[in-house]
Amino acid sequence: MTAARPTVDAAFEALATAWKNRTGRIVDLFSTPGRFEDFSRAYGDLLLDFSKTALTAETLGLLLDLAAAARVETLRDAMFAGDHINLTEDRAVLHTALRAAADEPLPVDGIDVKPAVADTLARLRAFAAAVREGRIAGARGHAFTDVVNIGIGGSDLGPVMVTGALAPYHDGPRCHFVSNVDGAHIADLMKTLNPATTLFIVASKTFTTVETMCNAATARAFIVDALGEDAVSAHFAAVSTALDKVAAFGIAPDRIFGFWDWVGGRYSVWSAVGLPVMIAIGPDRFGELLAGAAAMDAHFCSAPLDQNLPVLLALVGLWHRNVCGFPSRAVIPYDQRLARLPAYLQQLDMESNGKSVTRDGKAVTRPTGPIVWGEPGTNAQHAFFQLLHQGTDIIPVDFLVAAEGHEPQLKNHQDLLVANCLAQSEALMRGRTLEEAADQLRAKGLAGEAVERIAPHRVFPGDRPSVTLAYARLDPFTLGRIIALYEHRVFVEAAVWNINAFDQWGVELGKELATAFLPAVAAGEVPAQASPSTRGLLAHFEAITAA
Ligand code: F6P
Repeated sequence: MTAARPTVDAAFEALATAWKNRTGRIVDLFSTPGRFEDFSRAYGDLLLDFSKTALTAETLGLLLDLAAAARVETLRDAMFAGDHINLTEDRAVLHTALRAAADEPLPVDGIDVKPAVADTLARLRAFAAAVREGRIAGARGHAFTDVVNIGIGGSDLGPVMVTGALAPYHDGPRCHFVSNVDGAHIADLMKTLNPATTLFIVASKTFTTVETMCNAATARAFIVDALGEDAVSAHFAAVSTALDKVAAFGIAPDRIFGFWDWVGGRYSVWSAVGLPVMIAIGPDRFGELLAGAAAMDAHFCSAPLDQNLPVLLALVGLWHRNVCGFPSRAVIPYDQRLARLPAYLQQLDMESNGKSVTRDGKAVTRPTGPIVWGEPGTNAQHAFFQLLHQGTDIIPVDFLVAAEGHEPQLKNHQDLLVANCLAQSEALMRGRTLEEAADQLRAKGLAGEAVERIAPHRVFPGDRPSVTLAYARLDPFTLGRIIALYEHRVFVEAAVWNINAFDQWGVELGKELATAFLPAVAAGEVPAQASPSTRGLLAHFEAITAA
């Protein structure tokens, strides 16, 4: 007879009891030999160390029960098989198909999607190579020196983050990104561009997003003013699922690269949305990025739960969010080129899991997606680490760090970077007692009342958890693995919370109101639907502009 699986609620209750009855601090857990080995997992050179958390063998076991109770593996298999797991939009979720080997068919709604994926990838590769080699050039015959991606959200953050991360591999035209509808964004960039050598890529899954359409119209005028109406087709390409709308914009059919409704915006960097990356680093390097993600997919699908990096990273997240009650998590890459990773993960995580309703439409009974935020180390240390160390909230940290940089001549910098990363996780965990603080002050020559007065300010509570993701080097393959690791973490957490990670209805209301407000705002009038606060703000603008 097989033992009955606990339910999700029972697993959470057991975890809550274990947390309530905990004794000792994280640092004390290291008195058990083999703690690091037992609470870290490697996948090739990628190592996830979660030993600096309060997890014990018992609570890790309970978390694994939780994953089993939530049937994470069943939902995972349904996703990879192309089932419509995005229930509210009645769609499959198959960003993984964009990086999977082309040979095995993958039917979605009865049609094998692999040939279309392979065909689009081949077209992208050919286009990117031709732009890089100057075979595809501007209207006056000049090779493109600058590529500007116009998109927002998932049509911006993926390519902007990956392009920044892989800077050492850039050997194509310069890539720029315009996302904000604030005219300052595109205006500042246009000042630096020569229209004759600039290619614009308009990236929008829906091709209706107001910010992108507005910026695209401004870019179009920039080209038309300098080179004439006829130059538009030579200076624009587009990436979208709405091929009819792109054609209406005037973009030539051979410059339009499609993708599919089963690719969510925040999961789309693997699709044609990755075109600027491919132009920057070349199709082969882009292929390595896809291969890295595919490798993580294979690991996610095949490794047992207790060896599975995305599952374990998610379980640590669930432990901190639901059992320990920590409302946020910080992502601190000690890797300057991952400067946009926190912003990328904000969309990936918060747009996916910022939900209050379960997959079956009921109110959730426990907190879901945490606030995700961060900045690269070491800069973050000199900005907000004060609060991480001595603030009243406990904020678990994800540290990311490479063993080696791309600048061997600057090894002293890398040594400092690594030392700082390791020191921060130690400091968060260990803390400093009042006695230690007082001893330190006395060693500096202070005595009596001065020690008593100052020492409390120099106490660090410690016992603050973190995980560290360590890897050999930030190359395309590794970056692909890291992104896919986080995608699957979000998936597993959503599965346990029983929420749909693949819709984003929460962005709609603000968009609707902005559309309703625009005519009145543009005419200097007060929108009928506006609250007294909004009316007051508009009246203030009116008074300023009239003065
Ligand atoms: O407003 C949110 C959102 O729909 C995101 O989910 C998406 O990544 C972004 O807007 C951009 O959408 P699109 O690619 O359709 O322009």
